[in-house]
Amino acid sequence: MKRRPEAAPEQLRIGRTELHLVPPASFADAGAEVLAAVLRGFGARDLSLALSGGSTPGPIYEALAGLPGIPWERIRVYFADERAVPPEDPASNYRLARDALFDRVPIPAESVHRMEAERPDLDDAARRYDRGLPSRLDVLVLGIGEDGHTASLFPGSHNLRETARRVAPARSPSPPTGRLTITPPVVRSAGRILVFARGRAKADVVREALQGKADVSRCPARLARGGTWVVDTEAAARLRR
Ligand code: 6PG
Repeated sequence: MKRRPEAAPEQLRIGRTELHLVPPASFADAGAEVLAAVLRGFGARDLSLALSGGSTPGPIYEALAGLPGIPWERIRVYFADERAVPPEDPASNYRLARDALFDRVPIPAESVHRMEAERPDLDDAARRYDRGLPSRLDVLVLGIGEDGHTASLFPGSHNLRETARRVAPARSPSPPTGRLTITPPVVRSAGRILVFARGRAKADVVREALQGKADVSRCPARLARGGTWVVDTEAAARLRR
């Protein structure tokens, strides 16, 4: 049976948000190309990059590792959030990024700043990480949960009202429940925000985040409006065009 040709990637704006609409089959490669272009755009300047975890970004990080011209020696890597597990745990966002990216590119080990969320005192771990975080992140990679969370900022969390702390302990409704997360001031001050979302399961929340009326406390991913969203056609299916 002749395969239907995949639609070509499309770029459009929804309000302040730049949307890259990509076919599911090329989502990881397209996401990596968008991220690579942002990283190359800093030229000879050092830059800070914060990564998210979950199931979406792994293939993007793997594709990114294969792309040329990225100034890895000038990139300092941080994390948007981390689960309260050891770094070797399969649920660790650090381990995801290490296996998919750090082990495949020439980034100096000292450039990767892991959130030590395995520490027994998460509040102390948050304060330690806060002290090492740049005053503003140049590039922030975020995902979006089906409940509208981003990083580990979950709907209804008191962290969404945080104005002073830049890193805080958090509780996830799904395991691993203990988390560390950046707070809204860090998202708002980021130079570039990139959001990656794929799959039909995200269609409702992508529409809510970009075109809905819910405020940030009900849909924390609205904090990322105005950024660059790379969304496959499945996750974009409910967007009003
Ligand atoms: C995490 C991530 C989180 C993620 C969303 C989406 O620690 O889980 O940082 O914010 O981006 O939960 O996760 P999926 O990509 O698995 O849908």
